[in-house]
This record gives sequence, C-alpha cells and structure tokens, in this order.
Amino acid sequence: MKLEDLTLTTPALTPGDTSWFTHDRFGMFIHWGIYALPSRGEWVKRMEKIPTDIYDRKYFKHFDPDLYDPDLWASLAAEAGMKYFVITTKHHDGFCLWDSAYTDYKVTNTPYGKDVLTPMVEAFKKRGLRTGLYHSLLDWHHPHYTIDQNHPMYDNEEYWAGEKDRDINKYIEYLHAQTEELLKKYDPVDVMWFDFSVEPYDFPIPPYYHYEGKGKEIWKSEELIRKIRRINPKIIIDDRLGIDQDVKTPEQTMPTEWYRVNGTPVVWEACHTFSGAWGYARDEETWKSVDQLLKLLIDSVSMGGNLLLNVGPTGRGEMDERAVDRLKGIGKWMKRHSRSIYGCTQAPLEFECPKDCRYTYNPETKRLYLHIYNWNFGKIYLRGEVCEHVEYIQLLNDASEIFYTELPERNIVEISLPVKKPTNAEIPVLEIFLK
Ligand code: GLC
Repeated sequence: MKLEDLTLTTPALTPGDTSWFTHDRFGMFIHWGIYALPSRGEWVKRMEKIPTDIYDRKYFKHFDPDLYDPDLWASLAAEAGMKYFVITTKHHDGFCLWDSAYTDYKVTNTPYGKDVLTPMVEAFKKRGLRTGLYHSLLDWHHPHYTIDQNHPMYDNEEYWAGEKDRDINKYIEYLHAQTEELLKKYDPVDVMWFDFSVEPYDFPIPPYYHYEGKGKEIWKSEELIRKIRRINPKIIIDDRLGIDQDVKTPEQTMPTEWYRVNGTPVVWEACHTFSGAWGYARDEETWKSVDQLLKLLIDSVSMGGNLLLNVGPTGRGEMDERAVDRLKGIGKWMKRHSRSIYGCTQAPLEFECPKDCRYTYNPETKRLYLHIYNWNFGKIYLRGEVCEHVEYIQLLNDASEIFYTELPERNIVEISLPVKKPTNAEIPVLEIFLK
C-alpha cells in the first residue's frame, strides 16, 4: 500500500480553529486563587462546608502573593515544551483573578492589590504561548447562585431556607457579562474553558440533598456561545457548557483509544494533575514521576489527543517546587524529543505497534516515532504494513543510526537496540523515516 493510501484518523470539523491546537499538543493548566492559602485543594470551601464570611476573613483578607513572577512561570512552561496555557480566571469559589467591573470579589481588593491576570497573559504571550481562560460556571460566592449539591451549604437546611429568593437569572447575566469582559480584555483568547455542567438526575434523591441539575438551559449556553463566537470566531470552546463544541476534555483519565462522540473521532484534550488536587495542596504526597507524566503526554498524542498538565501555585505566588522539578524533567526530554510530539498524531491504523511501545506519526514529514516504554536488551520487531515503508532509523535523542534487518518473506523488520539505554532520554524514541 502507498503511504498516501494509509488510514489516518481525522477528527470531525468544528466551528473553532483547532489546527494550531492539534499541532501544539501540550499545554499548562494553572489553578490559582485564594484557595492556595488553605492549601487543601480548590474544593476546600465545599469539602469543609466553610461559610463565606469565614472563608473570606481567612483567605480573601490574607491573599498576598508577594513572590508572584509571571515571567518565571511562563519560562517554566515554555522550557517544559508547553505551547499554551489555561488559567482559572475564576474557580468555583467565585474569586476573580482580574480587575472585573462586575464584582468586588477580586484580586485587586486583597492585600496584594494588583491584577494578576493581565501580567500573566502578557508574560505567556511573550514566550509564544497561546492563551486559554478557564472560567467556572459554578459560583459559591454570588448572592444569586442557587444552592445545589455542589455548594458548600448544600446540606445546611437553615441556610438554605433563608436563601429561597435567589434568582439564578441574575447570576447568568453576571456570567455572560464577565465572559464578554474577559474576551474583550484579553483578545485574542485562543481557548475558552468552562467548567462544569450537571444534568438533572432522574432517580430519587435524599431530601437533605438539594440536587439541582445545572446545564445548558440554565447557563443559556447557546446564547453564550453565540456571543463568544461573535467576538472571536476562531476561539476553541470546550464541552462543559453542556453542548459539545471544539474539544472534549476527559479529566484525570486516559482514554484507551481515540476519543469518539457517537462513533466519530473528535478533537480531545486530557487534563491531569501532578498529584490529586488542582489547587495547591501542601500535604499531598502522591506526585507522579517525570516518567509517568511523559507517558501521559505520549499516550495522548498516540491516540490523537492533547495533554493539559496542571500546576497549583502557592499563596506566595510561586510554582510548587515539586512541580518545578517535574517540569524541568519534562523539558529535558522535550528538548530532544519534541519532534515526536508537535505536529504528530495517531499512526496509520494499518501499523501494528510493538509491545510496550507507542507510535506517534507526523503526516507532513512522513516520520514515524516509536516510543520505547521498556528498554530491554535486544530486538524490537516491526510487523505488517509498516515494513514496506522503512527507509532509515535513528535514535531521536542523538540522531545515532540504528541497525535493522528486513525480512520481507515474513513481513518483519528486526531492529537491534543498543545495549545501553540512552542516558539523556527518559523514554527513548526511534525516529523512523518512511518512504
Ligand atoms: C473539575 C473540578 C475542578 C477542576 C476541573 C479541571 O470539574 O471541579 O476543581 O477545576 O475539574 O478539569
């Protein structure tokens, strides 16, 4: 079969421009807000049922990230090989990182007293990274956001009884206005990342549990999407407004094959934390290793997806040193291996991938990348269709030639690996030039 006739998977077309996104593949997620101070994750207010006055007295009143240096953040992301970033403009607690005209619950009113979002967007742009804005649909601070199962006061009967006059439509106006404000202020925004919708349950709910589905009807998602696209027709919008748009966003999980919606392959991006929580969590000890993180990235690209890897900076405005350590490790690998990530996608379906390995493929350069997860002494065998196309093989980290033998009668290419695993390649990659 000719190279051009091999079966490449292409995702369904969507209204936004995803061409840069499926080329760049790797982004930094940043969860930052006043929840960095309790340092027990971004859901702390809900998990510990903290009333707003106490939450604010402690954290809003003491937020002062004096060591915040957005240039440093941007350089860490760029050196790790990340090409875009997505920052929590507002998380579920309602606290805003920019100087919004629609609320006082913002960073400029904390002891820090300055906008943190504008310098961040500028610093990342300067490093060539594209801008993504995460924006929470939930809001535990807004006086008209109705109490539901995800609200910190979800099981507080007394509180709930006193809040029956809340008018969710007033909140929706605020949500739409702030979205437009962000899009105009930071134009062009490349990704708008909303979070999240819940559909109504149709099974019995215990009475104390004030379950309320909040989805596309409540958010007025269709109208909101129209407003967004009017400001920026190219923008990428995620799927969490309750209407699928440009990208599916599986969270803390790795699909086992190219993500599909009703059988059709779509653009997708897995998001993962280094550890458990998204916001800074001082006492967490479940940090993934550089090797595990690289595998998340490679696995994603090998199935046609992106990876959005999250950091939760501290209340003083620094990246967690454990994150810095991982980012540097990733950057060391990316320096020599980004060719197997950028511009790459799932290999043609006819190519059977050897055991404990992952293929990625660059259809432009016609190069196939074999990521070797388990460096055993000996041989690797390519089988089937791919054997007809091998022109030359080298190790990607140092462009050193790799010997191979073609066994056409058995449709096998036998590759001889050097005994020693390359020391500057956590996960070694063979670059296979196809003819
Ligand atoms: C979830 C969580 C949230 C996090 C997000 C990232 O929906 O509510 O804390 O921001 O996922 O995907």
